[in-house]
Amino acid sequence: MTAQPRENLTGMDLREEIEKLRKERNAVILAHYYQKPEIQDIADFVGDSLELSKKAAATDAEVIAFCGVKFMADTAKILSPEKIVVLPDLDAGCSLEDSCPPDKFRAFREAHPDHIALTYINCSTEVKALSDVIVTSSSAETILQQIPEDQKIIFGPDRHLGGYLNRKFARDMLLWPGVCIVHEAFSETELMKLQHQHPDAPIAAHPECPPQIVDHADYVGSTSGILQFAKTTESDTLIVATEPHIIHQMEVALPEKNFIGAPGADGNCNCNICPYMALNTMEKLYIALRDLEPRIEIEEGLRLKAKQSLDKMMEMAAGTIGKGDLGRV
Ligand code: 13P
Ligand code: SF4
Repeated sequence: MTAQPRENLTGMDLREEIEKLRKERNAVILAHYYQKPEIQDIADFVGDSLELSKKAAATDAEVIAFCGVKFMADTAKILSPEKIVVLPDLDAGCSLEDSCPPDKFRAFREAHPDHIALTYINCSTEVKALSDVIVTSSSAETILQQIPEDQKIIFGPDRHLGGYLNRKFARDMLLWPGVCIVHEAFSETELMKLQHQHPDAPIAAHPECPPQIVDHADYVGSTSGILQFAKTTESDTLIVATEPHIIHQMEVALPEKNFIGAPGADGNCNCNICPYMALNTMEKLYIALRDLEPRIEIEEGLRLKAKQSLDKMMEMAAGTIGKGDLGRV
């Protein structure tokens, strides 16, 4: 059941209350770059999917308050089963996860018995359990390059990330037809108009964007890779084609630079806010730490199966942290 504010929290200093509970519970607050700025600011660590998985596996806190979406909190529980993992809003899903029901994915695998399944972390625990190796956007390139060229591969659920990797490495992975509704909403026409207004501004794009956006990018990479690019590019203006809440970290780190969110079809970048990530609020984070609900629970047999493909990722991605770099096709 989703935690909803059950009482009037008006007038409460949520920041202070969360600080108190964090200590009392021996909790760590992990947040993704797509969370609201106030949540990023109170988190112990803000990162991309791979970095957050590593933090969840390594922390000695007793409670992980995961401010992100459900597949990320599930991953934390798979890697740290002895810890209490709470997600402020259990309805914080992901369109990629929704696109890939486990029974259909199983049938797809069974129809291609000579293929291995290389699967994007944006999927359910059941789909992870049916996969051979998990990848994130920051580890996909490193991991794919370790797989022999003649090995047949199914890649799911993001057809844009899979297509990007196919083009970059001349592979012919079979692609599951899922998309991220947020990255799918960027408009090439509006992006071109923006670039015309800022001819010297490079474009940084997440590989979940469709090819007509990625093809215009000067840098393609994970959220942490894009943040790193913002820090290293000499340009004082950057066009950012991913969920716009990441711009908060750029503005904190680089207050002298100008960051512009790439537009959607209506020319307004608000349509690129992830509606799932936006479900988490300070109120719900406070309640989750206070009540230790809603908790992530995973049946042990399923967890152990899903852990195999995640462990494989951790092993094959070793050395990737900090690079966050898919580069450009
Ligand atoms: P990153 O691993 O690049 O942070 O991506 C997570 C995600 O859901 C992007 O939409
Ligand atoms: Fe899923 Fe897209 Fe939201 Fe990331 S931005 S959590 S891929 S819907």
